[in-house]
Amino acid sequence: MTNKYMYFIANWKMYGNLSSVNTLNKVIEFSKSKEINKGRLIYCPPYTLIGSFLKKFKNCQIDIGAQNCHESESYGPYTGFVNSYMLKNIGANYVIIGHSENRDKDENNKLINLKIKSALKAKLKVIFCIGETLAEKRKKKTQSILSKQIKVGLDKVKNKSNIFIAYEPIWAIGTGIVPKSKDLLKTIKFIKSKFKDKSPKVLYGGSVNPQNIKNLKKINNIDGFLIGGASQNAKKFIDIVKKTYS
Ligand code: 13P
Repeated sequence: MTNKYMYFIANWKMYGNLSSVNTLNKVIEFSKSKEINKGRLIYCPPYTLIGSFLKKFKNCQIDIGAQNCHESESYGPYTGFVNSYMLKNIGANYVIIGHSENRDKDENNKLINLKIKSALKAKLKVIFCIGETLAEKRKKKTQSILSKQIKVGLDKVKNKSNIFIAYEPIWAIGTGIVPKSKDLLKTIKFIKSKFKDKSPKVLYGGSVNPQNIKNLKKINNIDGFLIGGASQNAKKFIDIVKKTYS
């Protein structure tokens, strides 16, 4: 049983419609119960549902984040994009930046750095995703890839108190495969060692589910979880939180 303050972040990716909002009732009820102990729940729905989720969570402690933002600090002619100030303005408090599904679409470390800086200026908390591919892991390049992602992604970011790092090995996302406990412990330790002063909180993401949480929660340097598929199912999401604290 852990008594640690843990973060449980639901990344809904490109899923959900207006009727999905009704599935949140169970989670709202759960968020008001003692069972959640010291955990914090954060939902990152697609942009189209942020407003509805905010309304739904009005009287509870669940927070809202977006899944990405544009790097521009002002309005501009960028069709299809939303910047961090617009997100803060509607009530979001978090934003995921650098997810591998966006890195895959040509987001590089430099662009991610600009996004992070604009989000922090807009007073959003940043969930900064890093992780290696399977090929990189096989070539034993995990640490050098993570070092580069951290170095460039957080370049000139002095105050890191609003940064959360989410270690998401790409080969673990949506595959049902999670890293071996000893490897994960070592990688999280390595990430934390990159910070001279206080390290940001480090979360793990990639195929977290109600079954494997029993092992994942034993890795005592993890500060929370970024959950994709399982987070769209209220029961599974609640189970993950409950099992972390049981
Ligand atoms: P899954 O939990 O579906 O593997 O997704 C992880 C993820 O990408 C969260 O950002």
